[in-house]
Amino acid sequence: MANTDAAHRIEIVRGDITKEHADAIVNAANGSLLGGGGVDGAIHRAGGPAILAECRDLNGCDTGDAKITTGGNLPARHVIHTVGPVYRDGNHGESALLASCYRRSLEVAVEHGLKTVAFPAISCGVYGYPIPEAARIAVHAVAEFLDGHPSIERVRFVLFTEDVRAAFEAALRAETGS
Ligand code: AR6
Repeated sequence: MANTDAAHRIEIVRGDITKEHADAIVNAANGSLLGGGGVDGAIHRAGGPAILAECRDLNGCDTGDAKITTGGNLPARHVIHTVGPVYRDGNHGESALLASCYRRSLEVAVEHGLKTVAFPAISCGVYGYPIPEAARIAVHAVAEFLDGHPSIERVRFVLFTEDVRAAFEAALRAETGS
């Protein structure tokens, strides 16, 4: 169970992550980092061509890793692009890779001195991760990271649909034992 201070720095809201004023928003990208549908498409549409231009120089990204660009025209200052696992059957390392996305994104944020980060539900759309399990992994990975990293002041999960928001809320309650 996460310590309470760490869990208190986690917020869960329903909304559109492209509207977030944060030091960084996280993009659920694919390995090419050259755009796609879902939240990736929304971020590139709202952020404009500067983000894609920077992505072209990043040489793609491995599943479970994360890379940073500026936020272009977004209200967020940066975008941290991570690549979630495609869910197959749960026996192909998916949970470790998904946890790694959250951890690596926050490591990149710390390396750049960022204090507020917003995440979407990585792998919960096209990549097909079962939502309740993805929510538990996400909340646990973030709470564990925050425990050891006081410089991050707030992590907000910005979830697009009510079912996903409710699953993350339940996962946070389970994580804090409240
Ligand atoms: N704000 C917050 N969440 C959003 C938004 C938004 N504006 N739009 C969608 N979501 P997905 P994945 C939610 O499919 O499963 C792309 O083509 C959505 O409802 O965007 O990691 C990439 O290029 C869902 O809950 O990401 C990759 O090829 C969550 O974001 C692939 O999809 C993630 O859904 C990545 O698939």
